[in-house]
Amino acid sequence: MNPSSSSQAVRCLSLRKHFGEGEARIEVLRGVDFQAELGKLTFLVGPSGCGKTTLISVIAGLLDPSAGDLEVLNENHGRMKAQERILFRRRNLGFVFQQYNLLPSLTAAENAAVPLMADGVKRGLAVKKATALLDRLGLADKAASMPRFLSGGQQQRVALARALVHEPRLIICDEPTAALDHKTGESVMGLLASAALSPDRAVVVVTHDNRVFHHAHTIAHMDDGIITQVETPKPALTS
Ligand SMILES: Nc1ncnc2c1ncn2[C@@H]1O[C@H](COP(=O)(O)OP(=O)(O)O)[C@@H](O)[C@H]1O
Ligand SMILES: [Mg+2]
Repeated sequence: MNPSSSSQAVRCLSLRKHFGEGEARIEVLRGVDFQAELGKLTFLVGPSGCGKTTLISVIAGLLDPSAGDLEVLNENHGRMKAQERILFRRRNLGFVFQQYNLLPSLTAAENAAVPLMADGVKRGLAVKKATALLDRLGLADKAASMPRFLSGGQQQRVALARALVHEPRLIICDEPTAALDHKTGESVMGLLASAALSPDRAVVVVTHDNRVFHHAHTIAHMDDGIITQVETPKPALTS
């Protein structure tokens, strides 16, 4: 394997995705070339509706691409069987959805523990680990609360804990600071940046929030279904 490909956590080549057919067909990804390197925090920015959520959903294996090539952690997405993709995603990916997607009948700690339990970790240990992570995110007193009693920003942090708890190699977050005040947003980004400093991990963040841009190693700009520009404002420690 050549060294440049092995440092890449995500590689999209001419990636396309459309929804609908005939007159209802819309081309959302129109040939996306995008990379995210291990050891780096990569931002994906662009106007609302340009295809950011669609792109990261394809990268995460939640949507199938219509055409093009996708490699995640050096696995070719198209060559994996459906069941392999599910296991691969469960083990290697942490995903924070824009709408949080917490399970309403589980407590905050149980929600954050789901990836560990799905991987066979016993409930008690999983909840203990999840609670320790919630503590680091400033939610120690909310571990036993149900999601409906939490604010948007608190639910966001529970969703983040769920994405980090199993120490996945690829962490993908859709607008993780949108519902947070500046101080909390900074601490969430600090946590993501420190996760990305591990040489075998990568973090991809979709954001509009220019208050947190200083954390980025790479900023990929997206518009109308393609990547238009890539900036590298800050060298990563691992490169
Ligand atoms: N499941 C879907 N069916 C049809 N259109 C969709 C679907 N998901 C997204 N779109 C459309 O794709 C475009 C890009 O959406 P999205 O990826 O959510 O953009 P962003 O995250 O940049 O705001 C939008 O026009 C949206 O309406
Ligand atoms: Mg979106």
